[in-house]
Amino acid sequence: MKRRDFLTAASAAIIAPRLSWATTSQELIAEPVIAQILPSDSPAFAMWGYNGSTPGPELRLSQGELLDVRFLNKVGQGSAVHWHGIRSDNAMDGVPGLTQDIVQSGDHFDYRFRAPDAGTFWYHSHNRSWEQVAKGLYGPLIVEENKPPDVDHDITVLIDDWRISVEGVLAGDFDNMHDQAHAGRMGNFARAIINTKAPVQTRDRLRLRLINVATDRIFPIDLIGIEGKVVALDGMPLAEPQDISGLVLAPAQRADIIADVTSSDNVQFVFPTRDDPYVLGEIALEGTNNNRAASDILPLPVNTMAQPDLDNVISLTLTMEGGAMSPRSSSLTDIWGFNGQSGLNDAPFHSFERGQTARISMVNDTRFPHGIHLHGHHFFEVQADGMLGAFRDTTLVTPGETRDILCIFDNPGKWLLHCHMLGHQAAGMKTWLEVS
Ligand code: C2O
Ligand code: CU
Repeated sequence: MKRRDFLTAASAAIIAPRLSWATTSQELIAEPVIAQILPSDSPAFAMWGYNGSTPGPELRLSQGELLDVRFLNKVGQGSAVHWHGIRSDNAMDGVPGLTQDIVQSGDHFDYRFRAPDAGTFWYHSHNRSWEQVAKGLYGPLIVEENKPPDVDHDITVLIDDWRISVEGVLAGDFDNMHDQAHAGRMGNFARAIINTKAPVQTRDRLRLRLINVATDRIFPIDLIGIEGKVVALDGMPLAEPQDISGLVLAPAQRADIIADVTSSDNVQFVFPTRDDPYVLGEIALEGTNNNRAASDILPLPVNTMAQPDLDNVISLTLTMEGGAMSPRSSSLTDIWGFNGQSGLNDAPFHSFERGQTARISMVNDTRFPHGIHLHGHHFFEVQADGMLGAFRDTTLVTPGETRDILCIFDNPGKWLLHCHMLGHQAAGMKTWLEVS
């Protein structure tokens, strides 16, 4: 063997196992923090965060890699971490009372799982989430493709709102029943938290990973100063990239965008309003990239998924009910519910045999929109023309609307199905299902 060949072979031997068996191992400590939520001329105030900040650290790993996290709870209230959108082991799903015991303050829990899908995910508290997420217990979880798309910057953008009291601190009315019976706890200040690692130039190609981490607010978002496509929704690549206009993210939903910077001043994330558009955040540009040649935006590589068994589909209905201004079943024991029941009951919504394909009609019989999230699986949104649409983990259903989803229940365990408007979840809009 020639020396050069040997070197190539040796380095391949060293590198290859690292790529497929690497472990990202770290501690995630939930603790009180002081955070600068408002612009820097206003005082910082007390929040909760992970490892000293809210949002918590951006966790990044490669597709197929093992994530190994020791979670330590120091917030003075029980907690647990849910890895939103990861089709992982049930025991690692982070739902106290369903998949694990609550992690009391002072205790820890070890989360270890492989991330089967590349994409944009996030992690957040799943105990008293309407309070703990509002206080800042969340962060991005990025699973990189083994062959990432060719871009100049990979930028995570978390979009949130906060309710700030007249004293200028985070308002403490987390269990406000009026909020819960309506659209949830809306903030009075909203902002995009943009994680740029290097200066951005005109003509750069960007990958933007937008995550709506707000407890209850739906964000329509206009992107100013770029031209491009939505290439993934809820972490899953779209077979055909979509237009970026008209983008709407319900709580917990994500969109990956690949776009070229066309402006010479800034890129803006804008919340359209009837009056002046509200700028959630912006990236100031520095100079021009003259090396970036124009090229098409291609779809991302697909994540492997089971194929639906279209000859043996079972049909189920999930009716959302309750809330202000609408009639509800007398059997509801809380403000909201599904199919006449509030909260988690002994019997699951349904027990599926592993691998079963189900079409679930989600009927919104209320006066409010709901973003319904299924744990441990993604599902196809069935489009108006009957075709299978995006493969998502959270679907937004507007008042009076019915959304059908098609899901292959192939991940064994007990999984939560709930509204991700966390104030609605707090007030009964949740159930669970079982895959045996
Ligand atoms: Cu993002 Cu049940 O959660
Ligand atoms: Cu809801």
